[in-house]
Formats: sequence, structure tokens, C-alpha cells
Amino acid sequence: MNAGASPRTDADPVVSLTDAVAALGARPVLRGIDLAVHRGEVVALLGANGSGKSTAVRAAIGQVPLTRGEVRLFGTPLRRFRAWSRVGYVPQRTTAAGGVPATVREVVSSGRLSRTRLGPLRKADREAVDRALEAVGLADRAKDSVNALSGGQHQRVLIARALAGEPELLIMDEPMAGVDLASQEVLAETLRAQVDAGATVLLVLHELGPLEPLIDRAVVLRDGCVAHDGPPPKAVGQHALPGHDHVHPHAAPENADPIRTGLLD
Ligand SMILES: Nc1ncnc2c1ncn2[C@@H]1O[C@H](COP(=O)(O)OP(=O)(O)O)[C@@H](O)[C@H]1O
Ligand SMILES: [Mg+2]
Repeated sequence: MNAGASPRTDADPVVSLTDAVAALGARPVLRGIDLAVHRGEVVALLGANGSGKSTAVRAAIGQVPLTRGEVRLFGTPLRRFRAWSRVGYVPQRTTAAGGVPATVREVVSSGRLSRTRLGPLRKADREAVDRALEAVGLADRAKDSVNALSGGQHQRVLIARALAGEPELLIMDEPMAGVDLASQEVLAETLRAQVDAGATVLLVLHELGPLEPLIDRAVVLRDGCVAHDGPPPKAVGQHALPGHDHVHPHAAPENADPIRTGLLD
């Protein structure tokens, strides 16, 4: 994690969307979003299903074009940004089974591609892959096929792949979705270590859960607009918060469900 020889200053947000508008097909999905994450911050992007969270982070890395507004990474407009090794991205996990059974190590090693430019992995690359595997607790599974893993372990592989690139900015889309509690704890620890080492993090979450202590700020989307940008919503008093428009069962057993913020569904 180093600041690099960027001509830009630390005062620039690491990632910023300004008045971002995007449509998927005929459907407007982002309707003028402002979102900025500064160096060292951990920002949670929250909101109900379909509110535009994935579209916003995909726009941030250029996977969804904007029809209005601007994205900057490390102060550089996206169209001129080339320093992709500074960015690690963990996409929202899909249930689709992969075709080719790669090993855990192969998938994690692919996270070094932006640094190796398809050349062979050097010692530094292999060491970074080892560290990433250690960080997510999968060093002993390196030779296994990813198809042999549980959902939570598979998610850890995707996170290790992003960490292997030693990114300064980590963008993760629902890293806790479908992840068992043990893996959630591992992921929370992993993320804490990244943050302690100076990483900047933007993560889409459905609920804060075990990551809550790490979150500096929450941005809540509703129908493609920013409905809240500030301190993370507290689990307590959730019914007073905006966006809580349907009823949850109140007598749920203690560990049936992670903490709900009431802003999210
Ligand atoms: N490829 C697509 N084509 C058309 N509409 C899409 C596509 N992907 C997502 N959408 C729609 O865009 C809206 C926002 O989606 P998304 O950004 O995935 O929301 P979130 O991540 O908050 O659940 C949803 O209504 C969704 O149905
Ligand atoms: Mg999503």
C-alpha cells in the first residue's frame, strides 16, 4: 500500500461519482448520484434490492457507462485512468457454476494479472498470492478445485484474488452474501487488516453485520438516488429511519438473522 508517484494529491477522493446518471436498457438506474470515498475511508453502500448499488460500483470501475456525470479514480477521470493495479474489485457473486474447474491458487493468481501483464508470475507475485491465501484462511486449500468449495469459501477466493493485486482501493459488492458465519468472521478480520494497512474500501452491503465496527460512513441508495450519506445507520431505532416501509418479524430468534438496519429492505 503506497501512495505511488501520482501527480494527484491525497486530497482527491480515491473514488468519486459526480451527478452520475446511468440507464440499463430503457430503465434509468442511477439518477444523479454523488458519492466520494476518501483515502483510508471505509464506506458502505446500502439500499434495497434494485436500488442501484451494483450499478453504482460497476459504473465506478467503468463497467457501466454514464449518460451524464463523471467518475474519477485517484483524481483521474475514468476515461484516462490506467492504473488498474491500484484497484481490487470483488463482483457480486452469482449462483452460476463456473465451467472450467480452476484451482484456488489459479483464481487467486489471476488477481496479479494487472501487474504481470500476462507474463510469468515472479517471486513477488507468488508471495503476494500466498499472503492473500493466508489472509482469507485458504492457504491449505490452494490446490483444490474451486468447485469443491462452499459458498463462503468461494467468496473468500474472490476476495483473495482482489487482495493478491495489493490494491489501494478495494471495491466489493455484497461480499457477505450467502457466506456462513465462520467465513464472515474471517472476512471481517481480513478487511480490518487491509484497513489497518491503509486501504480505502467501498463495499456494497445488504446489512452491516460483523463489518459494522469497520464502517466509517454509509451511503444509502433509494431508486437510484442517494437517500442518506453520513454515519452508518444504527440497528436500534430502525423503525424511525427512512426506507423502513414494511414489517419484519419482531420475535425472531437471536441468531436467526444478522443485524438489520431497517434501511435496506
Ligand atoms: N443488465 C441489466 N439490464 C437491465 N436492467 C438491469 C440490469 N441489471 C440490473 N438492472 C436493473 O437495474 C436496477 C438496479 O440494479 P442493481 O444496480 O443491480 O441494484 P442493486 O445492486 O441495488 O440490487 C434493478 O431494477 C435491476 O432490475
Ligand atoms: Mg447488487
